[in-house]
Amino acid sequence: MTKTTSRARIDVGMPAPDFALAEASGRSITLSDLRGQPVILAFYPPDWDPSRADQLAHFNWLVQQVPGVNAELLGISMDGMWCQLAFAGDSVRVPLLADLDPNGAVAERFGVQGEQALFVVNAEGVVAWRHAGPAGMAPNADELLLALEALATPTPEAQAARFAPRDEQFVPVAPCVPVREETELASALLPSRREFVTTALAAALALTVMPLAAKAEPIAARLAEPLYPEVASASVTLRVNGRPVTMNIEPRVTLLDALREYSGLTGTKKGCDHGQCGACTVHVNGRRQLSCLSFAVMHQGDEITTVEGLATGETLHPMQAAFIKHDGFQCGYCTSGQLMSATALLAEPCGPSDADVKECMSGNLCRCGAYPGIVAAIQNVRATARG
Ligand code: FES
Ligand code: FES
Repeated sequence: MTKTTSRARIDVGMPAPDFALAEASGRSITLSDLRGQPVILAFYPPDWDPSRADQLAHFNWLVQQVPGVNAELLGISMDGMWCQLAFAGDSVRVPLLADLDPNGAVAERFGVQGEQALFVVNAEGVVAWRHAGPAGMAPNADELLLALEALATPTPEAQAARFAPRDEQFVPVAPCVPVREETELASALLPSRREFVTTALAAALALTVMPLAAKAEPIAARLAEPLYPEVASASVTLRVNGRPVTMNIEPRVTLLDALREYSGLTGTKKGCDHGQCGACTVHVNGRRQLSCLSFAVMHQGDEITTVEGLATGETLHPMQAAFIKHDGFQCGYCTSGQLMSATALLAEPCGPSDADVKECMSGNLCRCGAYPGIVAAIQNVRATARG
């Protein structure tokens, strides 16, 4: 049964109550230890994954709605309590304190006991954004957008609240709020890019981690809206992993989006969407191709193989097994593209040396630097095939 909230709720503009949390290392740190950077607090059950790929589309859509903000998120990965957001040519690392017990003492201090809630605590330790609701209730996309827009252009009251003196009880032991010159104050009143990005991420998380997405339908509907309504859809049938898949799509839909958004095959990753990273590599009629650079309507009747089609039942493709054996990946974001290139390479005129393999795989980037393992895996499979 849901417990009743016994403390006043902590609203936007109020100082976030401090609390201790245990790190995996066993070192106990407090929320105020993280002062100087925005922090996301998530009161959620443990069965959600902030790096879910479908959140990227929500995040990017949310950010695009706010004028003057230009930040396209390429990927989210988790490293302990740190959430790493990769942008084109940039990255932001944000503490994300998740899986906080919704019925625990911390939830009680935040006034959200028995609820699912997300808070963004800004660099000064003040709540900059919040969303809370009964377990199972989905947020309203419009509500989240309004919150983002308010953050991008804060009202004088919100600005004043952000810089109001904190309750003595919550002043950190070692305050790390930077001292600002008078002339810097105006720009300081606006949220930093990091703060905005953090809030947009929290909003995107709120849209996708809530168990029931009923109220989030407006955003899904908008994402599905045709960009050019006057352009007629085309019916195209691809043979994906041996099965015919027919879809009605606009001619502008790339093969990558057709696979991910229309066929539900999300193993193929969108990295740069510009033909530069190789994350989207698939096989088209047996040859590797960057699916982000090709329109789906160009592939009527083509045989498409994605990473989901490499294994045979429960048996991994030898290249998949070799990647595991040789540690050919770390975060795994590039791995499906690497695997598709590596398996295509087996049928290509690639020279025998490691340098030849590196050259043949040079279109697939790995931000984790798993290259030695990838080359070893490919050479292992080639040697086995020769033997
Ligand atoms: S997504 Fe980067 S090359 Fe296609
Ligand atoms: S990008 Fe992480 S394993 Fe390649």
